[in-house]
Amino acid sequence: MNFPILTAAEAAQLVNDGDVVGFSGFTPAGVPKAVAPEIAKRAEALHAEGKPFKISVYTGASTGDSVDGALVRAQAVSFRTPYQSNKDLRASMNKTGGVDYVDMHLSHLAQEMRYGFMSRPNVLIVEACDIEPDGTVVLTAAVGNVATFARYADKVIIELNKHHSKQLRGMHDIYEPADPPVRREIPIYTVKDRIGSPVLKLDPSKIVGIVETDLPDEVGSFHTPDEVTMRIGRNVSEFLTQEIKSGRIPAAFLPIQSGVGNIANAVLYELGNNPHVPPFTMYTEVMQDAVIDLMRQGRITFGSACALTVTAPVLQGIYDDMSYFHDKILLRPQELSNNPELIRRLGLITINTALEADIYGNINSTHVTGTRMMNGIGGSGDFTRNAYISIFTTPATAKDGKISSIVPMVSHLDHSEHSVKILVTEFGVADLRGKSPRQRAEEIINKCVDPEYRPMLRDYLALCKDGHTPHNLAACFGMHRAFMETGDMRTTDWSKFQ
Ligand code: COA
Repeated sequence: MNFPILTAAEAAQLVNDGDVVGFSGFTPAGVPKAVAPEIAKRAEALHAEGKPFKISVYTGASTGDSVDGALVRAQAVSFRTPYQSNKDLRASMNKTGGVDYVDMHLSHLAQEMRYGFMSRPNVLIVEACDIEPDGTVVLTAAVGNVATFARYADKVIIELNKHHSKQLRGMHDIYEPADPPVRREIPIYTVKDRIGSPVLKLDPSKIVGIVETDLPDEVGSFHTPDEVTMRIGRNVSEFLTQEIKSGRIPAAFLPIQSGVGNIANAVLYELGNNPHVPPFTMYTEVMQDAVIDLMRQGRITFGSACALTVTAPVLQGIYDDMSYFHDKILLRPQELSNNPELIRRLGLITINTALEADIYGNINSTHVTGTRMMNGIGGSGDFTRNAYISIFTTPATAKDGKISSIVPMVSHLDHSEHSVKILVTEFGVADLRGKSPRQRAEEIINKCVDPEYRPMLRDYLALCKDGHTPHNLAACFGMHRAFMETGDMRTTDWSKFQ
């Protein structure tokens, strides 16, 4: 079948007001980058004529600026799910009347579409590095939710991007589980097991056009690790070394999951560089730059992920060295990379980043002062709840010490005390396993809190009377309130609660 070749602007004309559009990719990796800016222009032109134009945007996770940024600046988005990290979209969804955003566990979206819990995309825009006449495509640097989007979309636009290597063929493992009541176990027993198809088979009758592009992924650069992130990384790797020595983690070690962002990238470097940590594998949702460097050094021997979220030079380095990387990387749908059954079976050591933790071990990964969404829960819940051992890292303070990341009660809850086993800051490691709430509070204050804030948190505990989890409900947000009133938690005054 010969598919029509379209310009990005022509393809954008096929997307209409009210459409639910699924985009391939996961993080900026593997996201189509040419058609969305043209959809944004179409929206602006229609708005100028007084006509409505807004779409719902479904993706794997975050995207680059050419999707979330361009569309939201054009007022073209009514609804967004399941994760984002764009500053303009963040501003809109934190405003009344802005984009409606549903923050979801990343393993959930595909099955919730199939279950009929969510509306389903009628348009799919997918980035491919190769296509065959029968509609078979080879995806690029990520998989995301594309197989499930393809099931429902009646219009498929392909961005054929020659920036990606065609040698990616064979590095994907595309599979959708059956749904209850007939779901069986997902037959992945080691991180390397491959159970699906290396290609995505699209119905050729749905393909309305191909847009040819040559565009790099829009993955931003990482900060060079600073003293604080390096100390956090060292604390994590020393803790894991002790766990191996004590026999609580098998000597052969276990697969690692590591979260998104600068801290996660820095932690992995420290882990990789610790000679007492054996070479390891990853079963994770994103592989960032650190993973690729460590693969080259033989410190990471295999990586299963949903996306290669690496900067442009690092991706080019992989493409230039495919004979080395082809059999060391496997890209899977997020329904597999983040699957609770597989996380529990494989025994993952999970390492994610908190915005805020409380003295009892509850974690807020998403909402600044309990109200303003930062990014989203992403895969952190999928992994934390099902880990062999779940670790959260955070610098002990934020904003030059004006915020303590450890507070009496988290202002929003993403991961509860029941799922969180280890908390790490630059000051130390709090081991919460087998400890009661009162013991956990002692451990966290003594090991993790910035010394400047320790007296304040001990004074808070003194305000709490009895209870299994002692709290003073009048005072528990006192540090947040002080920050909101004066811009600095260090001005907290407990005397009004005595
Ligand atoms: N209150 C207010 N702001 C805070 C804060 C707090 N308690 N803690 C951190 N911040 C701010 C930082 O100051 C920084 O602000 P800036 O962007 O203005 O500089 C911002 O939050 C990001 O912090 P940073 O220290 O650079 O961390 P990061 O890049 O590692 O990101 C998260 C941290 C929590 C935002 C990020 O990991 C995330 O979105 N996690 C949720 C999803 C997830 O875990 N996915 C992985 C699953 S695989």
